[in-house]
Amino acid sequence: MKTYKIAVLPGDGTGPEVMREGLKVLKAASKKFGFALKTKEFDLGGVRYKRTGETLSDKTIEELKTFQAIYLSALGSPEFPPGILERDILLKMRFVLDQYINLRPCKLFPGVKSALSRKGAEHIDFVVVRENTEGLYAGSGGILKKGTPDEVAIQTSVNTRKGVERCIRYAFEVAKTRKRKQLHLVGKNNVLTYAFDLWTRAFNDIAKEYQTVKTAYHHVDACCMYMIDQPEVYDVIVTDNMFGDIITDVGGIIQGGLGVAASGNINPNGVSMFEPVGGTAPQFTGLNVINPLACIRAGAMMLDHLGEKKAATAIDAAVEKVAGELPGLGVNQMGIGTDAVGTKVAKLVAGK
Ligand code: IPM
Ligand code: MN
Repeated sequence: MKTYKIAVLPGDGTGPEVMREGLKVLKAASKKFGFALKTKEFDLGGVRYKRTGETLSDKTIEELKTFQAIYLSALGSPEFPPGILERDILLKMRFVLDQYINLRPCKLFPGVKSALSRKGAEHIDFVVVRENTEGLYAGSGGILKKGTPDEVAIQTSVNTRKGVERCIRYAFEVAKTRKRKQLHLVGKNNVLTYAFDLWTRAFNDIAKEYQTVKTAYHHVDACCMYMIDQPEVYDVIVTDNMFGDIITDVGGIIQGGLGVAASGNINPNGVSMFEPVGGTAPQFTGLNVINPLACIRAGAMMLDHLGEKKAATAIDAAVEKVAGELPGLGVNQMGIGTDAVGTKVAKLVAGK
């Protein structure tokens, strides 16, 4: 039987609660579709940091590299200054494992209420391909004369030809497989005249290799407007790290909320990591009120990536059905608990 070695990171806050449901569903899928998952749990996040002072050591990184995928819920805790766990664990994993794509589908399921009351499932179905290792996230910059009236803070956006090209090429590959075959480059080439000059030239060069894909360009501010007013214009979007971060929160909310938004941090030639878009929601820890569907969908994306297409499709279909039946998808709106939502999906996947 095919066996996949998966590193599981339940993380902080409500992370472990949604991860439990994600694993429940993966287990049902593995039984039904005849493969095995060999999981190992890592207590990375606030728990380990508090106990040992470790955020993410070289030794742990080497160990993570031996897995076929990483399944993560969410990291971050109000107990520590903002950024420590996020930057030193989450972003570090994305960087050192060279997960250069952040793939974020935005699809409104039938029966689910969007924040956009005028829009239904037929209007919201696109994918954002976010560059995941460069841009403003690269950590290039510094503060001069800190704490003095003359202080200067510089944060540089790093855009390499190689990094931009591989991201754009990936987006064209995604667009090629979709029904509408439309790809929008989203940027700000009227202001960021260096960064998006490079992006635009690379985009136009690569477009020549993909004659079947229709292309267009939108400024990021206009993109936010379109996402609210006419989300149906989008099929696939490719953009840089910072803009991708921002627009996918808009994408999250229009597809029914962060309770259903999933993502994959992908290195096509290495170890990829799958996680919900939302955070740890620490104020709800232990209350069994958080929606696990985003984490469950991230699990389906992981199976799809590993080649278990049928299992992934079955989980997606089950999520779609359960999402459409719940009275709401937000915290305290589901009518049933986190665990009961996971059980419903798992039963459907098992064919019960
Ligand atoms: C996300 C998150 C992260 C990001 C944070 C937690 C560092 O917002 O995955 O979108 O900015 O990438
Ligand atoms: Mn974000």
